[in-house]
Amino acid sequence: MRVLVTGAGGQIGQALIPALLARGDEVLATDIKPLPYPSHTALLDVTDNSALYRIFQEWQPEEVYHLAAFLSARSEEQPQKGWELNFTSNWLVFEACLYFRVRRVFWASSIAAFGPHTPRQHTPQYTIMDPIGLYGIAKLSSERLSEYFATRYGLDVRSIRFPGVIGPGHLPQGGTTDFAVHMFYAALQRGTYTCYLKPETRLPMLYIDDAVQAILRLMGTPTERISIRSAYNIQGLSFSPQELAAQIQAYLPHFTCLYEPDFRQRLAESWPESLEDSLAREDWGWEAQYDLPTLCKAMWEALHQTV
Ligand code: SER
Repeated sequence: MRVLVTGAGGQIGQALIPALLARGDEVLATDIKPLPYPSHTALLDVTDNSALYRIFQEWQPEEVYHLAAFLSARSEEQPQKGWELNFTSNWLVFEACLYFRVRRVFWASSIAAFGPHTPRQHTPQYTIMDPIGLYGIAKLSSERLSEYFATRYGLDVRSIRFPGVIGPGHLPQGGTTDFAVHMFYAALQRGTYTCYLKPETRLPMLYIDDAVQAILRLMGTPTERISIRSAYNIQGLSFSPQELAAQIQAYLPHFTCLYEPDFRQRLAESWPESLEDSLAREDWGWEAQYDLPTLCKAMWEALHQTV
């Protein structure tokens, strides 16, 4: 399979590329910054339509994984760029996929597409969606666009509403759920962490291996089984900063966590605590492998090798 990945240097891309290579795919990994991968790589700004078409023309991908994005906090700081990257680039990629007859395309939606009037526990697949942040507004708009391209033009497009993704090796930047990764690194390096969310703010999360498996499983499912063309809810685990801090203290008893909430608190409070994911389970067999203790164990093992 010839595969094109955008945003390949980001948190999900860094884990997805090795998984695609291990599967035997021929991968062109692209990003706005140079990439260190043992695959084909290219520089690509996904908001530059001619550059995008050149890449599609040269590589002729059969599958596309469009991961380039600004996360929620960064989108608040650079709203126009955030909109171009999180909405317009989806439009450009979907059009290029139609033009070059790409077999399947994946893009990443987010729990940020929900809002303060969304039921927060076991958030249903179909419910009120009134995002307050620009990131969520762009993701919800992209979900509608995604379904539109599927129904109007027959594009085989698939997506997942990702919660916070946690993994070693890459510090996520510009997101609201980043604290979950940063707390591990700070605990090991400094023994203390100042969290920008209130201690009791529960959010849905996913270990990186589960995130990669979800993408591969969704993309490997026959077209007739895919009933959602906007983006699937998936649930992994949910925890608050204080619950994560308590787990970390079980490994590092002297670890202390301080709390200084900033503007991200408002975003976090408008997002679900947990998601109802029966359609993902039925349609493509979604099932998370990691809970909080296994996630912590995996993080410690990985971080002890790198930090
Ligand atoms: N992880 C994202 C963020 O925090 C939400 O999908 O912005």
